[in-house]
Amino acid sequence: MKISPSILSADFTRLGEQCRTALDAGADMIHFDVMDGHFVENISFGLPVLRSLRNGLGSAVLDVHLMITHPLKYAPAFLDAGADLLTFHVETEDDIDAVLDVIHAAGRGAGLSVSPNTPAEAVFPWLDRLALVLVMGVEPGQGGQSFDPRALDKLRALRAECARRGIHPDLSVDGGVKLGSTAPQCAQAGATLLVAGSAVFCAPDIARAVREFRQL
Ligand code: DX5
Ligand code: ZN
Repeated sequence: MKISPSILSADFTRLGEQCRTALDAGADMIHFDVMDGHFVENISFGLPVLRSLRNGLGSAVLDVHLMITHPLKYAPAFLDAGADLLTFHVETEDDIDAVLDVIHAAGRGAGLSVSPNTPAEAVFPWLDRLALVLVMGVEPGQGGQSFDPRALDKLRALRAECARRGIHPDLSVDGGVKLGSTAPQCAQAGATLLVAGSAVFCAPDIARAVREFRQL
């Protein structure tokens, strides 16, 4: 199982150090949540922070999740700042193919995310163009919420459709993913990549939490 710890729950006074701890313990990438106060209520962090992590974390894979109204406008800047994987929401009103074109032209991997009230089938028209599908286990906008089990049905539907097409994008799940409860359920439903914020960065021992996720 691959794990992408979400820094939304990190201690920002020690951000680089905590990312390094997670990566050294085996985290496959670092999940970077961008919120614009418009697509979602909250505002998180953005380009200067991403640039710092790009410079400070060597070749670590940066998995950027845009919860913003205008991914087409901002994708070039996030790619330039160092996103390796760039995910945006299928609920966007921007032209999805145009955003995917921008990401692919930069040679990076593209992801589409589905919010809890959106069916998995919404991403099917673009499935062949995606490096990952990000199924939200919570309403996007904040960490530490509880998991919506409809995400499990979506993972199963995506797994079946990918098998039918013979394609293998990562099936990622984000929000409410916890060791000992929802994480194993997600694994069983077909998730190949778990995003976990509070379960990693609020754990008493970050490295140990990462190792336990990877053992799933
Ligand atoms: C929510 C973010 C998540 C968040 C998950 O909008 O996309 O990445 O950090 O937090 P937890 O794992 O605490 O639910
Ligand atoms: Zn996220």
